Amino acid sequence: MQRDEAKLREYYAGAPDDISLSDVDLERIPSHISIIMDGNGRWAQARGLDRSEGHVAGVDALREAVTTSVRLGVDVLSVYAFSTENWRRPQHEVNLLMHLFATTLVKELPLFAQENVRLLFLGDIDALPKVTRDVFEKGLEETRGNTGMVFALAVNYGSRAEIARAARALARDVAAGRVDADEVDEASVAARLYTAGLPDPELLIRTSGENRLSNFLLWQIAYTEFYVTDTLWPDFTRWDYLRAVRDFQGRKRRFGGVVNK
Ligand code: FPP
Repeated sequence: MQRDEAKLREYYAGAPDDISLSDVDLERIPSHISIIMDGNGRWAQARGLDRSEGHVAGVDALREAVTTSVRLGVDVLSVYAFSTENWRRPQHEVNLLMHLFATTLVKELPLFAQENVRLLFLGDIDALPKVTRDVFEKGLEETRGNTGMVFALAVNYGSRAEIARAARALARDVAAGRVDADEVDEASVAARLYTAGLPDPELLIRTSGENRLSNFLLWQIAYTEFYVTDTLWPDFTRWDYLRAVRDFQGRKRRFGGVVNK
């Protein structure tokens, strides 16, 4: 974990009444935080705007979440940007999102360089339109050597598809004699997921009040704490982020065992 405390304090100046940086224990910041960014459409509709405006506003909230994560010293931030089911949305919305992913990523590359962020994609990015894929590959290339926070963007991601893909890879390894079927264990599955090598999320935040996982990180969230807020994603700020961390730190995590306290 890397953290610049002076920068963090400056970033969190001017606190609202109910929360401030001193409400969280900086020694117990979750290592991996996942976010289901939900409510862009409703945010736009509530303002009489097109849904696409909600996604554009969502990009600003995402930039803030990335910066907040870096400032707090989170090791991995993973966010759900586009699911395998999202292709069912109206074509113009899908096109807008693909375009937004590409243009945003190009624009944010200097931020990733400045903040030493390494980009990672969860999901089948080969199936994306070429322009989007090309930008994603450029992002991977340019951030490969960064040693700070990992920013994992789930695009064309579905957890069941991810697990089925891992099962196929394992089946191939067994068929080729590289793996003994009797030796297949949790670690050998985990090593074939998009998240291979990352710690499991400790905290999963979902905005807009929906209590659903929507096929996100089903394997990885076995012991993850959930935090659901009614705030719509474009309104989600560094303060909401801090509220989520404070809530997380108030939980007793037992991992199926008992807590001796
Ligand atoms: C959910 O809101 C949001 C999405 C499906 C898209 C998320 C994308 C962004 C925040 C832009 C991110 C940009 C990059 C570069 C990753 P919704 O449309 O489901 O809202 P609703 O539930 O109110 O309809």
